[in-house]
Amino acid sequence: TQEQPLLGQHWVITAGPTREAIDPVRYISNHSSGKMGYAIAAQAVAAGASVSLISGPVNLAPPQGCELIAVESAQQMHQAALTLAPKANVFVACAAVADYRLAKVADQKMKKTPGQDELTLTLVKNPDIVADVAKLADKPFTVGFAAETQDVEQYAKDKLARKGLDLIAANNVAIEGQGFNSDQNALTVYSANNAFDLPLGNKSAVAKQLIEIIARHFDES
Ligand code: PMT
Repeated sequence: TQEQPLLGQHWVITAGPTREAIDPVRYISNHSSGKMGYAIAAQAVAAGASVSLISGPVNLAPPQGCELIAVESAQQMHQAALTLAPKANVFVACAAVADYRLAKVADQKMKKTPGQDELTLTLVKNPDIVADVAKLADKPFTVGFAAETQDVEQYAKDKLARKGLDLIAANNVAIEGQGFNSDQNALTVYSANNAFDLPLGNKSAVAKQLIEIIARHFDES
């Protein structure tokens, strides 16, 4: 129907940060609040999709009507995504996934070493979730995000190609009042040949326009 254009479609959406444990009481993470990803999930439900929301730790209630898969680390998010994505029509990677995790998580709370003023932590690369989804034989229509502080267009287009994505939504996270943890955002969505500007607005309004662009490209694919 006109009001429910996504009826019959299964969307898998990642949202929020990941937490990479250092020891039982400490972790490495980032400033993602989950607001953008949760707004996309809510708008996709409103448009009729069946939605699985894979979320890192956030302080938000899951949108009504979607299936919530709560995870902490990038490896857990990776596993959940690769389990759900093969049966999905559309995959949207809005999570701010930690690129690196600790090479070894300490079993016990780490102690200060007397006389030692520096501590070196060794990190190893996490799997690239959205790139691995895009490599699936039965890959869904795959949409990534790009959070950049400079050269937004160039880095976003580079990620679109390198990760094998169908679309990428780029945001400049250096601008005050948008991006991480704000209620508003502005996006430029790139396909291989086109760009669509979604001007600054509430994340729910931006999410609504974003899913319209995704739905149009998905229908044409
Ligand atoms: O959560 P909010 O506070 O509302 O903020 C929203 C947001 C700024 C987090 C969001 O709009 C956004 O930009 N999300 C992507 C953040 C990010 O980590 O971007 P990136 O440029 O580092 O990653 C590029 C893409 O690869 C993203 O789709 C990311 O989900 C994905 N990725 C990255 C690393 C990794 N190991 N696996 C991934 O899937």
